[in-house]
Amino acid sequence: MAVKTIQWNNNHVVMLDQRLLPGREVYRTYRDYSQVAQAIRDMVIRGAPAIGVAAAMGVALGALWVKGKNFDREIERIFRTLAKTRPTAVNLFWALERMRRVYIEKRNLGVEAVKRLLKEEALKIHEEDIAANRLLGKFGAKLLGNARRILTHCNAGALATAGYGTALGVIRAMKEAGKEVEVLAGETRPFLQGARLTAWELKKDRIPVTLLTDNMVGYFMQHGKVDAVVVGCDRVAANGDVANKIGTYGIAVLARRHNVPFYVAGPTSSIDLNCPSGGEIPIEQRNPREVSHIFGRPVTPRGVRILNPAFDITCHDLVSAIITEKGVITPPFQQNIRAYVPHS
Ligand code: MRU
Repeated sequence: MAVKTIQWNNNHVVMLDQRLLPGREVYRTYRDYSQVAQAIRDMVIRGAPAIGVAAAMGVALGALWVKGKNFDREIERIFRTLAKTRPTAVNLFWALERMRRVYIEKRNLGVEAVKRLLKEEALKIHEEDIAANRLLGKFGAKLLGNARRILTHCNAGALATAGYGTALGVIRAMKEAGKEVEVLAGETRPFLQGARLTAWELKKDRIPVTLLTDNMVGYFMQHGKVDAVVVGCDRVAANGDVANKIGTYGIAVLARRHNVPFYVAGPTSSIDLNCPSGGEIPIEQRNPREVSHIFGRPVTPRGVRILNPAFDITCHDLVSAIITEKGVITPPFQQNIRAYVPHS
């Protein structure tokens, strides 16, 4: 896909502003790490792996402008600021941890060397993410066999990663393998990642896509219109419980009811062995205004109580398999997951 979600360009970070899609393709240039942190918070960039890449580039960008004598104190401030942006996707913390390791292990080489090495590490995280998506795409394409009508939720595509995508990476790999594939995309209230982003990406790639509102999933499954579900993930716990976009759990329950396989696609950087189960995964609560307003216009009476959890937990027993760049993890996850995750 030709669209560049995030790039390092001339010592600046450039992001496609996803809030404006599908109407406008605007690339924003960030010169300061605190702007990168704000962009993550404001969803200029979103999707677990993309947030990880943005955080890594944010560290590299911040480090560039730190003066030698304040280096230790300033770099800590940069890590802290970026860590506070969004709580659920573990890729953010995984990427920050990788950057921190470089800083700790190489600081004795001097400030200029550390700045260069941090930039190299961020670029490596970016490249590795694309490679991981391509690999997991191939594993997924094989696993899905002749499934043709694939339901997905939110956006786990090129826009949610450094490129290619996880759930949409599987779909792209199926298409590249010559399979006939049709995507059913859930709209994904309230931020409309499915309607705005998944539909946009797939249309650009000429992959047939049908948009559903979130409450239509049961209807389509009941009428035998879904062969498989493939979604992305923000964090997978050690027992295989999956945090993903709000609404994923409901889809998994429906899939089980209708004997439709429910697959989760994500790089191993989305697996958090420090979280024993989904119960320990922090769920981001976002601004109620995202629910009460659509494109700036109120859609509810003023003052009505609104809750806006951005993610939910799908229990591992509803997950048929987890597709990673290292291979397909099958149940029992508690036992099998550890063999795939190097950072245990
Ligand atoms: O709130 P978002 O848009 O960052 O949520 C994104 C999702 O839930 C995706 O499904 C997940 O991050 C996987 S992206 C490859």
